Amino acid sequence: MTGIEYDDFLDLGYEPAATELVCEFTIEPADGMSMEAAASRVASESSNGTWAALHVDEDELTDLGAVACGIDGPTVTVAYPAALFEAGSMPQILSCIAGNILGMKAVDSIRLEDCDWPESIAGGFPGPQFGPSVAREKLDAGERPVLATVPKPKVGLSTDAHARIGEEAWRGGIDLLKDDENLTDQAFNPFADRLAESLAARDRAQEETGERKDYLVNVTAETTEMLERVDLVAEHGGGFVMVDVITCGWAAVQSVRERCEDHGLAIHAHRAMHAAFDRLDYHGVSMRVIAQIARLCGVDHIHTGTAGLGKLANEDTPGINAWLTSDCHGLRPVLPVASGGLHPGVVDQLIDALGTDIIVQAGGGVHGHPDGTHAGAKALRQSVEASMAGTDLETYADDHAELATALEKWGAETPR
Ligand code: 3PG
Repeated sequence: MTGIEYDDFLDLGYEPAATELVCEFTIEPADGMSMEAAASRVASESSNGTWAALHVDEDELTDLGAVACGIDGPTVTVAYPAALFEAGSMPQILSCIAGNILGMKAVDSIRLEDCDWPESIAGGFPGPQFGPSVAREKLDAGERPVLATVPKPKVGLSTDAHARIGEEAWRGGIDLLKDDENLTDQAFNPFADRLAESLAARDRAQEETGERKDYLVNVTAETTEMLERVDLVAEHGGGFVMVDVITCGWAAVQSVRERCEDHGLAIHAHRAMHAAFDRLDYHGVSMRVIAQIARLCGVDHIHTGTAGLGKLANEDTPGINAWLTSDCHGLRPVLPVASGGLHPGVVDQLIDALGTDIIVQAGGGVHGHPDGTHAGAKALRQSVEASMAGTDLETYADDHAELATALEKWGAETPR
């Protein structure tokens, strides 16, 4: 017989093996609890321990205990053996590393900050099919950022109005029309009608501009229904789908990824609800980890914030984007999406902060242009052209009227 107690999960001299999943947590132990005691409880509960000491026959037990192997101030490092995890199952992995431990009494707060994914686990996931290559494989963006817009108001527009706004935006220089996160299949704008009308508008805009355009149609739904919507997008000749990955859940995202591969469709991940996990800097799951999960599960684009230049709370957008495009055991990179309160007057700063391998998405910043959607789309495209040429926006605006009007309205302000 062997005994399993909390102490068995703490070894500050332990060096994680290359096959292990190594997670970094920020922990505030509960009153009266030492950091060592809290760390060992986290490693225990997230692997194979519990609150009571156990007595198990060694012959009947695979040793799957995690090891709390580092404590540096509030930062605790835990190493998990690969055999603890079911290959290719994101729900199972998260039930370990972001499961019961987030609610334990032993900690006042705990945040999963970062994961170092070993090949043994990353290799069980498909990763993106396209990633940044959509800019050239599916669109004609070349080296510049891909431009997207979402019609506003986000819900309530009729199908005709939605498609018309999309057509104006595409004609003005936008690459991708995007649905908003809460537009799916409502009576005022049914999914199948919107898909057909918007793609017909896309075809006309392609014909007129000579540029490839596409539509990020929101297929978010219960999983079976969502897969049917993916099939419908392929039947109608769309090249992308959009999924609200957090509200759908990662198992559903994995199913969509598989179905999208059958059709060669790229996945645009909207992260609505992410802030329930990542907004507090002392508790939850960081956006960095959410982005890592999304890459493993195989989305091609994901929203990662605007480096403080839009309407959303500031976050480590450059660091997250760097991870999404760094090497991860051969998985393709993800194309990050900057979205939320952007407009032409901040595009130069955005590119300075995040580079050109991004999607710049602006809703209000296109449709709120004083001269309407078409002019707004032109202004956004002009601001990108100016930034790519290294020309000051004000100077470029001297002979680009739409940009001049946008700058007059918004300047370089960051909205709230
Ligand atoms: C999104 O999907 O990110 C938002 O709807 C962006 O809208 P905005 O550009 O008007 O802030």
